[in-house]
Amino acid sequence: MFISGGAGGVGTLAIQLAAWLGAKVVTTASPRGEELVRCLGAETVIDYRTQKFKDRLSGYGGAFDLTGGQDLIDSFAILKRGAKTVSVAGMPDATTARVDLDAGPLVTAALTVASAKIRRAVRRKGVGYRYLFMHPSGADLEVLAELVDKGTLETVTDRVFPFEQIAEAFAYLEQGHAKGKVVVQM
Ligand SMILES: NC(=O)c1ccc[n+]([C@@H]2O[C@H](COP(=O)([O-])OP(=O)(O)OC[C@H]3O[C@@H](n4cnc5c(N)ncnc54)[C@H](OP(=O)(O)O)[C@@H]3O)[C@@H](O)[C@H]2O)c1
Repeated sequence: MFISGGAGGVGTLAIQLAAWLGAKVVTTASPRGEELVRCLGAETVIDYRTQKFKDRLSGYGGAFDLTGGQDLIDSFAILKRGAKTVSVAGMPDATTARVDLDAGPLVTAALTVASAKIRRAVRRKGVGYRYLFMHPSGADLEVLAELVDKGTLETVTDRVFPFEQIAEAFAYLEQGHAKGKVVVQM
Protein backbone atom coordinates (compact mmCIF):
# COMPACT_ATOMS: atom_id res chain seq x y z
CA MET A 1 0.00 0.00 0.00
CA PHE A 2 1.41 3.38 -1.00
CA ILE A 3 0.47 6.52 0.96
CA SER A 4 1.79 9.88 -0.24
CA GLY A 5 2.48 12.58 2.36
CA GLY A 6 2.44 10.25 5.38
CA ALA A 7 3.74 12.71 7.99
CA GLY A 8 0.73 15.05 8.04
CA GLY A 9 -2.57 15.00 9.91
CA VAL A 10 -4.28 12.45 7.66
CA GLY A 11 -1.19 10.39 6.87
CA THR A 12 -0.20 9.70 10.47
CA LEU A 13 -3.58 8.01 10.99
CA ALA A 14 -3.73 6.37 7.54
CA ILE A 15 -0.33 4.69 7.98
CA GLN A 16 -1.37 3.14 11.28
CA LEU A 17 -4.76 1.96 9.99
CA ALA A 18 -3.23 0.43 6.84
CA ALA A 19 -0.57 -1.37 8.91
CA TRP A 20 -3.22 -2.56 11.37
CA LEU A 21 -5.19 -4.00 8.45
CA GLY A 22 -2.09 -5.96 7.44
CA ALA A 23 -0.71 -3.83 4.60
CA LYS A 24 2.98 -3.19 4.09
CA VAL A 25 3.13 0.58 3.96
CA VAL A 26 5.38 2.73 1.79
CA THR A 27 5.13 6.47 2.21
CA THR A 28 6.74 9.72 1.13
CA ALA A 29 8.11 12.18 3.70
CA SER A 30 11.00 14.59 4.12
CA PRO A 31 13.81 13.72 6.57
CA ARG A 32 11.92 15.85 9.16
CA GLY A 33 9.04 13.35 9.09
CA GLU A 34 10.91 10.12 8.46
CA GLU A 35 11.35 8.93 12.04
CA LEU A 36 7.72 9.66 12.86
CA VAL A 37 6.27 7.71 9.91
CA ARG A 38 8.59 4.76 10.59
CA CYS A 39 7.46 4.66 14.25
CA LEU A 40 3.84 4.61 13.08
CA GLY A 41 4.39 1.57 10.85
CA ALA A 42 5.77 2.66 7.48
CA GLU A 43 8.28 0.04 6.29
CA THR A 44 9.72 2.12 3.48
CA VAL A 45 10.07 5.90 3.41
CA ILE A 46 10.92 7.79 0.23
CA ASP A 47 12.24 11.35 0.58
CA TYR A 48 9.94 13.24 -1.78
CA ARG A 49 12.43 16.10 -2.10
CA THR A 50 15.22 14.02 -3.60
CA GLN A 51 13.52 10.99 -5.21
CA LYS A 52 10.48 10.29 -7.38
CA PHE A 53 8.47 7.46 -5.84
CA LYS A 54 7.35 6.34 -9.29
CA ASP A 55 11.00 5.51 -10.15
CA ARG A 56 11.22 3.13 -7.18
CA LEU A 57 7.84 1.43 -6.88
CA SER A 58 5.73 -0.86 -9.08
CA GLY A 59 3.00 -3.49 -8.86
CA TYR A 60 1.24 -2.00 -5.81
CA GLY A 61 -2.24 -3.17 -4.75
CA GLY A 62 -3.51 0.27 -3.71
CA ALA A 63 -2.59 3.89 -3.14
CA PHE A 64 -3.95 6.61 -0.86
CA ASP A 65 -3.09 10.03 -2.26
CA LEU A 66 -2.72 12.90 0.20
CA THR A 67 -0.66 15.26 -1.94
CA GLY A 68 -2.54 15.48 -5.28
CA GLY A 69 -1.15 17.06 -8.48
CA GLN A 70 1.56 15.09 -10.25
CA ASP A 71 1.82 12.69 -7.27
CA LEU A 72 -1.73 11.56 -7.97
CA ILE A 73 -1.00 10.95 -11.68
CA ASP A 74 2.25 9.15 -10.75
CA SER A 75 0.40 6.92 -8.28
CA PHE A 76 -1.42 5.27 -11.21
CA ALA A 77 1.94 4.21 -12.67
CA ILE A 78 2.98 2.24 -9.58
CA LEU A 79 -0.24 0.19 -9.33
CA LYS A 80 -0.86 -3.24 -10.75
CA ARG A 81 -3.71 -3.41 -13.29
CA GLY A 82 -7.12 -3.30 -11.62
CA ALA A 83 -5.81 -1.68 -8.41
CA LYS A 84 -7.10 1.69 -7.26
CA THR A 85 -5.93 5.07 -5.99
CA VAL A 86 -8.17 6.80 -3.50
CA SER A 87 -7.40 10.51 -3.12
CA VAL A 88 -8.41 13.22 -0.69
CA ALA A 89 -6.19 15.81 -2.37
CA GLY A 90 -6.79 15.40 -6.11
CA MET A 91 -9.69 16.45 -8.34
CA PRO A 92 -13.17 15.13 -7.54
CA ASP A 93 -14.69 13.29 -10.51
CA ALA A 94 -18.25 12.75 -11.74
CA THR A 95 -18.80 9.76 -9.43
CA THR A 96 -17.91 11.90 -6.43
CA ALA A 97 -20.29 14.60 -7.66
CA ARG A 98 -23.17 12.17 -8.06
CA VAL A 99 -22.62 9.83 -5.10
CA ASP A 100 -21.00 12.00 -2.41
CA LEU A 101 -22.23 15.49 -3.24
CA ASP A 102 -25.63 14.67 -4.71
CA ALA A 103 -24.73 17.32 -7.28
CA GLY A 104 -26.85 18.39 -10.25
CA PRO A 105 -25.89 18.04 -13.93
CA LEU A 106 -23.96 21.33 -14.06
CA VAL A 107 -21.53 20.49 -11.22
CA THR A 108 -21.23 16.90 -12.47
CA ALA A 109 -20.38 18.14 -15.98
CA ALA A 110 -17.86 20.67 -14.59
CA LEU A 111 -16.07 17.99 -12.55
CA THR A 112 -16.12 15.61 -15.53
CA VAL A 113 -14.26 18.22 -17.57
CA ALA A 114 -11.92 19.18 -14.71
CA SER A 115 -10.94 15.54 -14.08
CA ALA A 116 -10.35 14.67 -17.77
CA LYS A 117 -6.55 14.43 -17.41
CA ILE A 118 -6.91 12.09 -14.43
CA ARG A 119 -9.45 9.89 -16.21
CA ARG A 120 -7.16 9.62 -19.26
CA ALA A 121 -4.24 8.53 -17.06
CA VAL A 122 -6.46 6.01 -15.25
CA ARG A 123 -7.64 4.49 -18.55
CA ARG A 124 -4.10 4.30 -19.93
CA LYS A 125 -2.87 2.36 -16.89
CA GLY A 126 -5.96 0.15 -16.45
CA VAL A 127 -6.41 1.21 -12.82
CA GLY A 128 -9.18 2.80 -10.74
CA TYR A 129 -9.62 6.23 -9.16
CA ARG A 130 -11.96 7.57 -6.53
CA TYR A 131 -11.94 10.93 -4.77
CA LEU A 132 -13.04 10.68 -1.16
CA PHE A 133 -14.92 13.36 0.74
CA MET A 134 -14.78 12.87 4.49
CA HIS A 135 -18.20 12.62 6.11
CA PRO A 136 -18.74 12.79 9.85
CA SER A 137 -19.72 9.31 11.01
CA GLY A 138 -20.43 8.36 14.62
CA ALA A 139 -20.08 4.67 13.77
CA ASP A 140 -16.62 5.17 12.23
CA LEU A 141 -15.53 7.36 15.16
CA GLU A 142 -16.59 4.63 17.58
CA VAL A 143 -14.29 2.13 15.84
CA LEU A 144 -11.42 4.65 15.87
CA ALA A 145 -12.01 5.55 19.54
CA GLU A 146 -11.85 1.88 20.46
CA LEU A 147 -8.53 1.54 18.62
CA VAL A 148 -7.20 4.60 20.46
CA ASP A 149 -8.36 3.19 23.83
CA LYS A 150 -6.60 -0.11 23.08
CA GLY A 151 -3.42 1.74 22.15
CA THR A 152 -3.57 0.39 18.59
CA LEU A 153 -4.02 3.85 17.14
CA GLU A 154 -1.90 6.76 18.30
CA THR A 155 -3.00 10.34 17.74
CA VAL A 156 -0.11 12.59 16.81
CA THR A 157 -0.51 16.27 17.71
CA ASP A 158 1.82 18.81 16.18
CA ARG A 159 0.50 21.97 17.87
CA VAL A 160 -2.47 23.04 19.97
CA PHE A 161 -3.91 26.55 19.49
CA PRO A 162 -6.45 28.23 21.82
CA PHE A 163 -9.76 29.07 20.13
CA GLU A 164 -8.88 32.80 20.02
CA GLN A 165 -5.96 31.92 17.73
CA ILE A 166 -7.95 29.90 15.21
CA ALA A 167 -6.74 32.12 12.34
CA GLU A 168 -3.11 31.45 13.31
CA ALA A 169 -3.90 27.72 13.48
CA PHE A 170 -5.17 27.74 9.89
CA ALA A 171 -2.23 29.85 8.74
CA TYR A 172 0.15 27.36 10.37
CA LEU A 173 -1.65 24.38 8.77
CA GLU A 174 -1.57 26.07 5.37
CA GLN A 175 2.22 26.22 5.50
CA GLY A 176 1.97 22.46 4.86
CA HIS A 177 4.63 21.22 7.27
CA ALA A 178 2.59 19.88 10.19
CA LYS A 179 3.64 16.56 11.68
CA GLY A 180 0.36 15.05 12.74
CA LYS A 181 -2.73 17.07 13.63
CA VAL A 182 -3.09 20.77 14.37
CA VAL A 183 -5.66 21.15 17.14
CA VAL A 184 -7.86 24.12 18.09
CA GLN A 185 -8.94 23.89 21.71
CA MET A 186 -12.52 24.99 22.38
N1 LIG B 1 -11.25 15.21 0.88
C1 LIG B 1 -11.37 15.41 2.19
O1 LIG B 1 -12.44 15.23 2.76
C2 LIG B 1 -10.15 15.84 2.98
C3 LIG B 1 -10.14 15.75 4.37
C4 LIG B 1 -8.97 16.09 5.08
C5 LIG B 1 -7.85 16.54 4.36
N2 LIG B 1 -7.93 16.64 3.01
C6 LIG B 1 -6.73 17.02 2.21
O2 LIG B 1 -5.79 15.98 2.37
C7 LIG B 1 -4.48 16.51 2.20
C8 LIG B 1 -3.60 16.06 3.37
O3 LIG B 1 -4.09 16.69 4.56
P1 LIG B 1 -3.21 16.74 5.87
O4 LIG B 1 -4.02 17.40 6.91
O5 LIG B 1 -2.62 15.38 6.15
O6 LIG B 1 -2.03 17.72 5.40
P2 LIG B 1 -0.89 18.33 6.30
O7 LIG B 1 -1.05 17.89 7.71
O8 LIG B 1 -0.83 19.79 6.02
O9 LIG B 1 0.43 17.65 5.68
C9 LIG B 1 1.65 18.21 5.98
C10 LIG B 1 2.75 17.18 5.83
O10 LIG B 1 2.88 16.80 4.46
C11 LIG B 1 4.25 16.72 4.13
N3 LIG B 1 4.39 17.03 2.71
C12 LIG B 1 4.22 18.24 2.11
N4 LIG B 1 4.37 18.10 0.78
C13 LIG B 1 4.65 16.80 0.54
C14 LIG B 1 4.92 16.03 -0.63
N5 LIG B 1 4.94 16.60 -1.84
N6 LIG B 1 5.14 14.70 -0.50
C15 LIG B 1 5.12 14.11 0.73
N7 LIG B 1 4.89 14.78 1.88
C16 LIG B 1 4.64 16.11 1.78
C17 LIG B 1 4.93 17.74 5.01
O11 LIG B 1 6.26 17.30 5.24
P3 LIG B 1 7.54 18.30 5.38
O12 LIG B 1 7.06 19.54 6.09
O13 LIG B 1 8.48 17.51 6.21
O14 LIG B 1 8.03 18.57 4.01
C18 LIG B 1 4.08 17.72 6.28
O15 LIG B 1 4.59 16.84 7.27
C19 LIG B 1 -4.64 18.04 2.09
O16 LIG B 1 -4.62 18.37 0.72
C20 LIG B 1 -6.03 18.28 2.66
O17 LIG B 1 -6.62 19.45 2.11
C21 LIG B 1 -9.03 16.30 2.32
